Amino acid sequence: MCVKLKKLTPEVVRDKIVVIRVDFNVPVKSGSIVDNTRIMAALPTFQFLLENKVKRIHVLTHLGRPNGQVVDDLSTNILASELERLLGETVEFQKDFTVGSERIQMHENVRFWAGNKDNSPEFLKKLSHLGGEVFVMDAFAVAHREEASITGLPSFLPAYPGLLVTKEVDALSPFMIEETMSGLCIVMGGAKLKTKIPVLTHFAQFAEHMFLGGALANTFRMAQGYEIGKSFYEEEYIDTAREIFDIAKEHNTHIHLPIDVVCAEDEESSQVEVFDVEKVSQSMSIFDIGPKAIRQFCEGLRNARSILWNGPVGMIEKPAFEEGTRAILTCIAEQKSAKTVLGGGDTLKALHAFGVSESRFSHVSTGGGAMLEFLEGKDLPGITPLLA
Ligand code: 3PG
Repeated sequence: MCVKLKKLTPEVVRDKIVVIRVDFNVPVKSGSIVDNTRIMAALPTFQFLLENKVKRIHVLTHLGRPNGQVVDDLSTNILASELERLLGETVEFQKDFTVGSERIQMHENVRFWAGNKDNSPEFLKKLSHLGGEVFVMDAFAVAHREEASITGLPSFLPAYPGLLVTKEVDALSPFMIEETMSGLCIVMGGAKLKTKIPVLTHFAQFAEHMFLGGALANTFRMAQGYEIGKSFYEEEYIDTAREIFDIAKEHNTHIHLPIDVVCAEDEESSQVEVFDVEKVSQSMSIFDIGPKAIRQFCEGLRNARSILWNGPVGMIEKPAFEEGTRAILTCIAEQKSAKTVLGGGDTLKALHAFGVSESRFSHVSTGGGAMLEFLEGKDLPGITPLLA
C-alpha cells in the first residue's frame, strides 16, 4: 500500500485564513503540561504557515475525553499559553469559535461540544464561522477518529496535510509495502493484546521476526501451554494467539517469546525472581523479560534492516520491572544501519523516563492507536481527504 498525500505549498496558504487541527492531547498534571512533545512536533507546520504569510490561523484540538461536556481541567487555555511560549508569537485564546483580533487564535477543546463527535451539521456551521479558507490537518495521532474537526471540515474546505502528518505518513508507509519489509523486526509489548491483534496479524505475514514482551506475551505463552502463574492474560484471545502463530509459520515469520522472565508475587513486591519461561512458579506473576531474554531479543535485533517497536516489554511504572524495556530501548537506539521506528504513548513514556533522545531513532511517531491502525493497512478517515 502506497499512501501519497497532497503537498502543503506556500501558494496554498498565502494570504489565507487557515483552520488547523492539531493533536495537543498532552499529559497535564495539577494544571501543568507534563510532556509537550506533541506540541513541539507540530511547530514546523506553524512556522511554515507564518513564514508563508497566512492571514490568520485558527487552531483546533481536543484534550482528553470530555464527551460533549465542559470540563474545566480540560480547557485548551493552557495549550494556547504553551504554543505562545514555544512560537514566540501571541496566541489568543477563544472560549468558543468567535473570531478575535490576533493572527493566531486557539479555540476551546472541540470535545466540549457533542457535535464534534457526531460530526453534526450544527457544529460544522459553528466551525464555518471562523471564516476558514484552507483546512490543514496535522493531528496524526487522532487521524483514526471521525470527528467534525477532522473529517467534517474537509467537506467544505480544501484540505491539506500539515508537515507532521506528512512526516508520519512518509516514515510509516515503508512498513506497509511488502518489498521493503524484508529484514523487518517487530517488538511489541504492553498490557492488552486486544488493540494489537490486527497489527500483529498483519506483521505475522510480513515480518522476519516478532519479539513479544509485556503482559500481552502471556496470552501467547498460554496458547503454547506454558505455566504463567498468576500473571495477567486474556483468556478470550488464546485462540487468536494460536491463529497468529499459524499465520506466522505459514509465512516463515519467527515469533519469539522471552526465554526467561522477571516475576514477583505482586506488582508492589520488590522481592523479584527470574525464572526460565517453562519454570514460572504458580504463585508468581510475570512483570518483565529476564536477562537471557534481553540478550535473545537484542541479538535478533542486531541483524534487522528495520525495526518497529510499540509497547514496553515490562511494567515500567515500577523500577523493579523496568530493566527489560530500558535494555531493548538502548539496543534499538544503538542500531546504526537499521531504520528504527517507535510509537505509542507508553513507548514514548519509556523513552522520556529513561532519558533517551528521540534523535537516536529514525522516527518517533506521535500516534498510538492511529499508528497501529495505519500500520494494519486501514484507511484512516482523517488521512483520506488528504490523499493526492
Ligand atoms: C491519543 O492520545 O492517542 C489521541 O489524542 C487520540 O485520543 P482518543 O483516543 O481520545 O481519540
